[in-house]
Amino acid sequence: MTIIAGKTILLTGASRGIGRFIAHELAQKQATVICISRSQEGLDRICSSINALGGKGMGIPFDISNVEQLPILVEKIENIGSVDILINNAGIEIYKVFQDYSIKDIQSVLSINLLAAMELTRLLLPNMLNQGSGHIVNIASLAAKKGHPYDSIYSASKAGLLMWSNAVRQELASTGVHISTVCPGYISNYGMLADTGVPAPKLAGISQAEDVAKAVIRAMELNQAEIIVNGNIMMQTLTRLLLATEQFFPRLGDAVNRWLGVTRLNQMRIKSCNQRE
Ligand SMILES: NC(=O)c1ccc[n+]([C@@H]2O[C@H](COP(=O)([O-])OP(=O)(O)OC[C@H]3O[C@@H](n4cnc5c(N)ncnc54)[C@H](OP(=O)(O)O)[C@@H]3O)[C@@H](O)[C@H]2O)c1
Repeated sequence: MTIIAGKTILLTGASRGIGRFIAHELAQKQATVICISRSQEGLDRICSSINALGGKGMGIPFDISNVEQLPILVEKIENIGSVDILINNAGIEIYKVFQDYSIKDIQSVLSINLLAAMELTRLLLPNMLNQGSGHIVNIASLAAKKGHPYDSIYSASKAGLLMWSNAVRQELASTGVHISTVCPGYISNYGMLADTGVPAPKLAGISQAEDVAKAVIRAMELNQAEIIVNGNIMMQTLTRLLLATEQFFPRLGDAVNRWLGVTRLNQMRIKSCNQRE
């Protein structure tokens, strides 16, 4: 069990979307939250609300796609104080048919969603291990469990995040440092899906940003290895059963993605992205 009150927490992607709700939950538990994102304005806003809710907010603008510069960021943070908890939440998506991705698209999705999480963990872990306590929470996705067409780089990055966390969790057994992964399905009220204006497929299971934030807290307080956030308890059980069945019949999963509307949704997202460009 990880106690959150009074802890120093590094949260990436804190400025908007789901990150904002995670920051609010942490603030209500009187944590110090070091918020990372690119937008100074977004950081100022989230730090004010963290302070108003009883926590302590500190914002550092940083583009985490510059993975080679992350040691400089961590040095700066460790000069302020040691980090007890790391929440790798920042993430991006780019919708395209695979052959249309540029190498720059591939590099940015993998850097932000996967490499930055690995590098921040690599840099912060030694201190946590010295202290004999700490927690790392990685925000993956249901796309880590079953590939989403037209979002293949994102799926690869989230599957990588999930499986890397799974391996490191075994290395960390009995060290006092824990690692959890949270896999949200579609989030309808805030975040990257809501921002596209394309509605989530109704049959796939829909959650709110608050549900993900609560799952992050649960992951730490109950030291849970992996949490799926996808609608109500019945929908989450069905999701787990379906994912287990797809291990035996991968093409069944492809058909389910078509039937649920995941394939069509991502085709629509390519169009909505093209219109905005
Ligand atoms: N929303 C969903 O339906 C959903 C479903 C499953 C999983 N997830 C996962 O949940 C996490 C949060 O998603 P969200 O929906 O809240 O996304 P979002 O609303 O697009 O917010 C992304 C956050 O990451 C930050 N960010 C993006 N690029 C960055 C960079 N290069 N350097 C530093 N910060 C950067 C953004 O701030 P700046 O733009 O200011 O940098 C923002 O704070 C992601 O890992 C996502 O994959 C979301």
